Amino acid sequence: MRLFIAINLSQEMRESLIDLQNDWYDSGVRGNYSPEENLHLTLAFIGEYPDAGQVMDALKSVRFTPFPLALEGVGAFGDLWWAGLTDSPALSALAKRVRHALATAGIPFDRKRFNPHITLLRRASVSKMPPAGAAPARMTVNGFSLMRSERGREGMIYTELGSVCAVTNQS
Ligand code: 2AM
Repeated sequence: MRLFIAINLSQEMRESLIDLQNDWYDSGVRGNYSPEENLHLTLAFIGEYPDAGQVMDALKSVRFTPFPLALEGVGAFGDLWWAGLTDSPALSALAKRVRHALATAGIPFDRKRFNPHITLLRRASVSKMPPAGAAPARMTVNGFSLMRSERGREGMIYTELGSVCAVTNQS
């Protein structure tokens, strides 16, 4: 199983990102656009690993309180185009705790520095990004998910295998 850990996005954020993809498309940019249901923010990438139950057990130790997230800016890693987020110490702290929990449980993951981004387009047909940006949608992060990634006939299929909820003052 190919596994990763991600924050799934609110409807408002997805809509803002879809609008941006449509702007790019209308400007003539072609490539492999992420479908709406695949939009996510990766906290850690595990890759091939056989035991999702063990990963969930490790993730259950991660404590965090709800925090806001807002879209800000766009960028590219080569021909992969992404949407960025406003700087968030709470987001960095969550990624750090998730990665620490994996490391403590001996679960391997990609140790590349956490670089928060939401992939919108792969294999962009042009190198110059049109000037349009995303509407500055916001959401509250109330949880994160263990996701499985499979190659489907029409592209990647992401399935949520389990989730961990934020701790609120009442709980
Ligand atoms: P990307 O969108 O920048 O490709 C599922 O593949 C998710 O894990 C994607 O969000 C992907 O980021 C991310 N990811 C992080 N490290 C990865 C790696 N080494 N291989 C594949 N995906 C990785």
